[in-house]
Amino acid sequence: MASDDYEIQIVANLDELSRRVAEEFISRTREAIQAKGFFTGVLSGGSTPKALYTLLASNRYLDQVSWLKIHVFWGDERCVPPTHPESNFRMASDSLLSKVPIPKENIHRMPAEQEDHDRAAQEYEHMLKTFFRLKTGEYPRFDLVLLGMGDDGHTASLFPGTAALKETKRLVVANYIEKLHTYRLTLTAPVINYASNIMFLISGEPKASILKEVVEGAYEPSRLPTQLIQPVEGRLVFLVDRTAASKLTKENPRTL
Ligand code: 6PG
Repeated sequence: MASDDYEIQIVANLDELSRRVAEEFISRTREAIQAKGFFTGVLSGGSTPKALYTLLASNRYLDQVSWLKIHVFWGDERCVPPTHPESNFRMASDSLLSKVPIPKENIHRMPAEQEDHDRAAQEYEHMLKTFFRLKTGEYPRFDLVLLGMGDDGHTASLFPGTAALKETKRLVVANYIEKLHTYRLTLTAPVINYASNIMFLISGEPKASILKEVVEGAYEPSRLPTQLIQPVEGRLVFLVDRTAASKLTKENPRTL
């Protein structure tokens, strides 16, 4: 990584990882609601967070979150309808949002099903500017951004060698992913980096090699976009289970 201003927390397995993120989520919601009356959180897509979302909707945690004061957004979205099996919105809705009393107007879905992907990105960007009352050139400061990492080093839909990696002005872009032959909507790196708290959820042996390259290898963000994630003022935590951390050698991982 370019900067060593991050923390690696190693936990036993995905269950423990999900529990730890659930507790972090609850703490961050309480902190934000106490400070400003509401919480803004960015949900990750992919499969890793599903266990976390299910846990947050469980009797164990459900009542620990003031859902009426929670606003959720997405870090990225596939260009499919919200009912599609690949939709990040659908995964979060089925596992969490449909089971908690979060007001519908607090669920800020990316309109990625639109034919005109650039227009969809601009619409989401406009929503962010309105919601956060941004002036020109300002970025939203999310209270918490949850991220995953692909085994190619991508995060959100910031994939290796794609145009979105170089975007420094826009908040949201439609990014063409050559290897997937598709567009995806994604928050840009500067937006993610402006968050108060950023947490990567990384689980499983297939992530071990790429995580070692990201954390211990040379700074090559075009090949390893996860390295672009360096908070401006916030906190960056990699929550990693033992199998995903199995190739790390640096002393900095704090095993919990
Ligand atoms: C997506 C995600 C993506 C995901 C990684 C890891 O839309 O797929 O935003 O960035 O977090 O690909 O996915 P897994 O958790 O399934 O390994």
